[in-house]
Amino acid sequence: MIITIDGPAAAGKGTLARRLADHLGLAYLDSGKLYRAVGLKLLRQGLDPADAGAAARIARTVGIGDLDEPGLDDEATAKAATIVAAYPKVREALLLVQRDFAAHPPENRPGAVIDGRDIGTVVCPDADHKFFVTASLEIRAARRLNELLERGVESIHSRVLRDMKARDDRDSGRQTSPLAPANDAHLLDTTGLDPDEAFAAALALIER
Ligand code: DC
Repeated sequence: MIITIDGPAAAGKGTLARRLADHLGLAYLDSGKLYRAVGLKLLRQGLDPADAGAAARIARTVGIGDLDEPGLDDEATAKAATIVAAYPKVREALLLVQRDFAAHPPENRPGAVIDGRDIGTVVCPDADHKFFVTASLEIRAARRLNELLERGVESIHSRVLRDMKARDDRDSGRQTSPLAPANDAHLLDTTGLDPDEAFAAALALIER
């Protein structure tokens, strides 16, 4: 069984995806981490994320084994990730990694939950269940700010909101695989939902 969960940053995709995977005994892949891994490797090698050739070369070296680096959560990594995510050659390389994960989930799991921006549209268009998870920009910025403060990263709401809006615009506006709901995706707005309610709503749709 393949379940795809797409949507903008901090809409609640990751929490929902992990809970569905645990509940259904499926493997879980946060595909954003692959793009972050490309960004992080570039930064660590002193390369410029604006260098599409270097980004493509690095993307061909990134795999599932690169997703446990603590630096993946840094804001600098997120910014580099959103830049490299626009390069077709980067997406091409990571597409193979994601498709391989879906076709051969680790630990012999009977399927996978994958979250990202283009999973239901491009990576797994034949998935069994697709979700497009959204929430208002204000609430997503508030959630991200909380996350950052909990991690001890000093931040202010107005800056998080501005960065998130810029990231939304880049993710939705790029030519290759822009953020968009698949035609057959269930739309789930988590603005007024807590994680338990979002999980219950998604599970009900799957069981139906
Ligand atoms: O979800 P995230 O913030 O970890 O994603 C990091 C960046 O990668 C984000 O700018 C969008 C991009 N991304 C993408 O283009 N396609 C995906 N399937 C997942 C993430």
